[in-house]
Amino acid sequence: MRKAIAELHSLIDTHAKVMLAPNDWASVPDSKLGDFAVPCFKLSKAIGKKPQEVSVHLAEKINAGSGYTFIKEVIATGPYLNVKLNFSNYSKMLLEDIKNDSLGKSKLGSNKKIIVEYSSPNVAKEMALHHLRTTCIGHSLARILDNHGYDVTRINYLGDWGTTHGKLLMALEMFGEEARLKSDGVSYMLELYVRFNKEEKSNPELSQKAKDAFQRLESGDQELKRRWQLFRDISIEEFKKLYKRLGVDFDHYDGESFYEGKIDAVVDEITQKIGTRVSEGALVCDLPNQKIPALLKKDDGASLYLTRDIAAAEDRQKRFGFDECWYVVASQQKFHFDQLFSIVKLLEKPFASGLKHIPFGMLSFGSKTMKSREGNVIFLNDVLDEARDKAKAIIQEKNPTLEHIDQTAEQIGIGAILFSDLSQFRIKDVNFSWESALSFEGDTAPFIQYTHARCCSLYDRVVEHSKQCKAGGDISELLENEHVQDLLRQWGIYEKYCDRALDAQDPSQIAHSMIDVAKSFNRLYHNVRFLDEKEKNKADLLIELTKGTKWVLARGLYLLGIEAPERM
Ligand code: ARG
Repeated sequence: MRKAIAELHSLIDTHAKVMLAPNDWASVPDSKLGDFAVPCFKLSKAIGKKPQEVSVHLAEKINAGSGYTFIKEVIATGPYLNVKLNFSNYSKMLLEDIKNDSLGKSKLGSNKKIIVEYSSPNVAKEMALHHLRTTCIGHSLARILDNHGYDVTRINYLGDWGTTHGKLLMALEMFGEEARLKSDGVSYMLELYVRFNKEEKSNPELSQKAKDAFQRLESGDQELKRRWQLFRDISIEEFKKLYKRLGVDFDHYDGESFYEGKIDAVVDEITQKIGTRVSEGALVCDLPNQKIPALLKKDDGASLYLTRDIAAAEDRQKRFGFDECWYVVASQQKFHFDQLFSIVKLLEKPFASGLKHIPFGMLSFGSKTMKSREGNVIFLNDVLDEARDKAKAIIQEKNPTLEHIDQTAEQIGIGAILFSDLSQFRIKDVNFSWESALSFEGDTAPFIQYTHARCCSLYDRVVEHSKQCKAGGDISELLENEHVQDLLRQWGIYEKYCDRALDAQDPSQIAHSMIDVAKSFNRLYHNVRFLDEKEKNKADLLIELTKGTKWVLARGLYLLGIEAPERM
């Protein structure tokens, strides 16, 4: 679609002397009215004519010309200029792009470096369902950036420092066993943490002890450091197993602890350039237009989350020289990032404008909202197991002879979970339900995966069938078929939605397009009898349409971080 839109934009430039932006286009609700449209509101402002007049004027001029590649005809429809495509050239172009593996890709980001920070769980706590959103949105955004040629660095900013670690170390010393830490891992760490918090309530002295322990850790106590390292290593090992299941990866695991020696320099710089003061024993910094000051150091001198984030931003700039750094973190942390970004700006760091918070809404499961501090945590691993088991039961019912049932069940179950998260607008809250996530019909991953698998098996059958077709045949009739046209249109829209996903930093754009492509292919499949085609050229076009759809669905699912099994 990009090339067809570019052709129209350049014609508009010729006749109205206004060059529109690549995203100035719209889809048309009824294909009888056109294949895509350009709204004339911007043009109207630039030219000083009503949008309705602009569209009529442009339609006359453009239709009077000839020699276009993708445009067959334009139609003025109120304030819109609708376009009818030349499907012969348009389909050739799309098929060529698919053959070259380039549909939807671009070089927009070449020579640009973007850091995407996502997942970032806290060490010594099991990953709970609420970690899912940052993990899968971040992972998908990294792939979307990569699709546009950006140089992407993926960072997992582990929460591996802070007073919590004082508590864990004390808990281990008071009532823990190192051997169990090694055998039971994170669930044991969580047990220690919960027990410590409980005992702290009846014995307030413990709070001071935990603070002291963290202080000793910060000032380099070797034994505490060794135990802390154990907590960290065991946690990462467990996180990695989960990431493997989710197909998620990182270039760096740089936790907050990475910045422990760099805090004083940050605080000194803030004191010099912005100014700090002591408030109730803590060191704070006042920010313009913000009532609450930024907290830099606790009353006992311990470093804080915010201070570590300032050090981390600076360090990332030094190490990676990023153009942008995206923090994929829940919208509840907006205030934290507002403070972080204003401090970096007040410090006059040249990279300040490249820092971006990519917030997202809450995930709830049935009626419960997930929060890690409460007792009723739902562990992500358990959710994935349940998804796999439910998917397996469905496969056993629908296709009991399928090979590799376990592997496919894992792909479908996890895909279902990921898709129900990613298909919501990023900023909206998500309410997860098993019934809608795992359905093979409706807007779900299993539906898209199933359509992909259908393309795979149908492809083999049509190729076989085409060998018996008689040579020749005119494909123009097939290209006039409304279902064929709709499918080709959806491929083109997929390409534009790759651009939108980047502009809006939102994987749901790709998710929506996958649903549309899958639905469109299924309509074609139900309306055109692929295996009854008599002429070779037409059968070949149907083969290309099947293969192309398989490519688009697999690619779109890949961008979402979802597997596309070939058989289901
Ligand atoms: N570890 C934090 C948490 O679980 C998220 C870290 C977000 N990233 C950041 N640069 N502050 O809440």
